[in-house]
Amino acid sequence: MQEGGLPMFDLLICGATLYDGRGGPPRLADVAVDGDYVAAVGDLGGAESRREIKAEGLALAPGFIDVHTHDDRAVLDGDMAPKISQGVTSVVVGNCGISLAPLTLLGAPPPPLDLLGGQADYRFASFADYLSALDRAGGATNTAAMVGHSTLRVGAMERTDRAASAAEIAAMRGRLQDCLAAGAIGFSTGLFYAPSAAAPTEEIMALAEVLKPLGGIHTTHMRDESDHVTEALDEAFAIGRHAEVPVVISHFKVSGRDNWGRSAETLAKWRRAAAGQPLALDAYPYAASSTVLRIEYAAEAPQVLITWSKAHPEQSGRDLDEIAREWGLDRRAAAERLQPAGAVYFSMDEGDVRRILAFPETMIGSDGLPHDQHPHPRLWGAFPRVLGHYARDVGLFPLEEAIRRMTSLSAERFGLVDRGHIAEGAFADLVLFDPATVIDSATFADPKRPAAGIKEVFVNGESVWAEGRPTGARPGRVLRLGQGARPA
Ligand code: ZN
Ligand code: CU
Repeated sequence: MQEGGLPMFDLLICGATLYDGRGGPPRLADVAVDGDYVAAVGDLGGAESRREIKAEGLALAPGFIDVHTHDDRAVLDGDMAPKISQGVTSVVVGNCGISLAPLTLLGAPPPPLDLLGGQADYRFASFADYLSALDRAGGATNTAAMVGHSTLRVGAMERTDRAASAAEIAAMRGRLQDCLAAGAIGFSTGLFYAPSAAAPTEEIMALAEVLKPLGGIHTTHMRDESDHVTEALDEAFAIGRHAEVPVVISHFKVSGRDNWGRSAETLAKWRRAAAGQPLALDAYPYAASSTVLRIEYAAEAPQVLITWSKAHPEQSGRDLDEIAREWGLDRRAAAERLQPAGAVYFSMDEGDVRRILAFPETMIGSDGLPHDQHPHPRLWGAFPRVLGHYARDVGLFPLEEAIRRMTSLSAERFGLVDRGHIAEGAFADLVLFDPATVIDSATFADPKRPAAGIKEVFVNGESVWAEGRPTGARPGRVLRLGQGARPA
């Protein structure tokens, strides 16, 4: 903006150590913001601004992009504190085959759709309705939305314990096409889960075919992440090749004690495949997973923590073995009595977690579950844990590399235009933090604690998190396919 012939910026952040998101070494620079974009980067001493932040000693980075979330509903009606408190400014919702739209329900949502809300929350018959509600709500972060395969199946099939018929596939293809036309950026599957486990590979191929003409991407919570993880990877790669679309392997992991160490093999397999087709992957920085409470899973995992229970809400936050002992039951029977419920499973190896995080193509995604009573700490801690614990304290990679995996790499893979880096003309999604003190505070015992060291967070030029709390601003935008989002 010009006032009296001199440049007058809305905001000037002075003297910060700038990490531009591209992974290069940091440098000292001032950053000026006008409206919703970065107006200038460099030595801006003497420039006029409505607000100036002296940021000596602090790091300034592009706002983080949480590529793997279940914030479909939280971004609509919540304050997004779990995310903005970490420096996250954009979220990708609709992962793992479950999206809030397009679906209306006559009864309770079947697991895992219940992770997103109850019957009344499934109120968007079309994706266009959902995205317009998001447009109106604003949201504290930007949102890019995927369409879930399980959501489509529950909407199109009377029962989901079988393959979809030709007519059902045609109906789902039509709906998926409408969703993409409305602005969904892609299609996710959760083949591990009951509503989609009976879907043969051909069904997913037929649906994924719809993506290419519009430029959508495919993300997958694979059929298996333990004993049959290599077959599951083959299936995901085959779907991508068939439909000629980029595939994101969600929360890349190897689960189950017998498979510990196998990330060396699965990452090598991913790399070989990626030489011939577009692939991506994301991970969260913890050796424990979390989802709905599944009996077989609960029986096998070394340790299980209950995150919520409809039947016994008083048990959330407790160890399943303790509950079982109190009830005089075995784990299986206790898990049965808690249903419907959610859990954390301590079933990964720290060495695998580190190898996957250190892999240069790995993006960071929290996989946080915002409606759980006693959530996995990844909901509030994933990003600062990568910055403070894995980059600074453990030394897995330099800070600039940690930041790249949560900004420019993610924006490129998900096609988020003009986000994920700091440069003149890019959107002013920014996070100011103290690199010496940034760290996750959320733990398995006390999971709802904001991270330390995050000073201020800006979305489209507006402050959304300052002095340890949300400002209440909702400047977030929907990043629609072909507009704010353009998957490669
Ligand atoms: Zn998942
Ligand atoms: Cu997920």
